[in-house]
Amino acid sequence: KPQAVIFDLDGVVTDTAYLHFLAWQRIAHEIGIAIDEQINEQLKGISRMDSLERILRCGGAEHRYSEQEKRRLAERKNALYVASLQQLNPGSVLPGIAALLAELRRQDVRVGLASVSLNAPRILEALGLVDQFDFCADASRIQRSKPDPEIFIAACAGLGVAPANCIGIEDAQAGIEAINASGMLSVGIGVQLEGVDLRLPSTAELNWPLLQTFWLTQHS
Ligand code: BG6
Ligand code: MG
Repeated sequence: KPQAVIFDLDGVVTDTAYLHFLAWQRIAHEIGIAIDEQINEQLKGISRMDSLERILRCGGAEHRYSEQEKRRLAERKNALYVASLQQLNPGSVLPGIAALLAELRRQDVRVGLASVSLNAPRILEALGLVDQFDFCADASRIQRSKPDPEIFIAACAGLGVAPANCIGIEDAQAGIEAINASGMLSVGIGVQLEGVDLRLPSTAELNWPLLQTFWLTQHS
């Protein structure tokens, strides 16, 4: 069996991917840029400042703002996002996740978090999941957001396990690429993801027997 399972947060543990989208949509609208769910797919797993750059580029506005103005736009987005996090509670954990976390604990499989979100600690707190994770990689100490494997490698190091002994779970294409580049096996949540070792339509299909079978088929 795997020694550890490492989770992405936004879109895997809880549906904050949609809250990120709503906050960015409001900021983008204020500066005359329309963003849709398709652009949002490209923002998943990408850091706050990189997300802003992509939105500006998509509106042809990448040269219109100074560094200071960009920082203020990103800060305002974050304020909107953090306010929307108030609606999170233990009932906001996506289907299948709480049961899987509990089963991993029973199986003595280590559990890690690899989110590039600086808000990850407060989200885990709101969900009541802090104690379910053995190690959470610190996004503030990461140089490169996904698709770079840095955050997954940091999570493996913190857990004291080699990537080859781990499974990573992601909902974003950039995240899948990060997992694959780290040398872990990838589980993708979402039908449009490419290059995944195991693809599931939603977290509701995720459970320990399935991960165990998947691990065995990959190692036979
Ligand atoms: C990732 C999200 O988890 O965190 C991205 O998928 C987000 O959409 C990134 O931009 C950074 O989040 P935050 O909370 O630090 O702005
Ligand atoms: Mg995600």
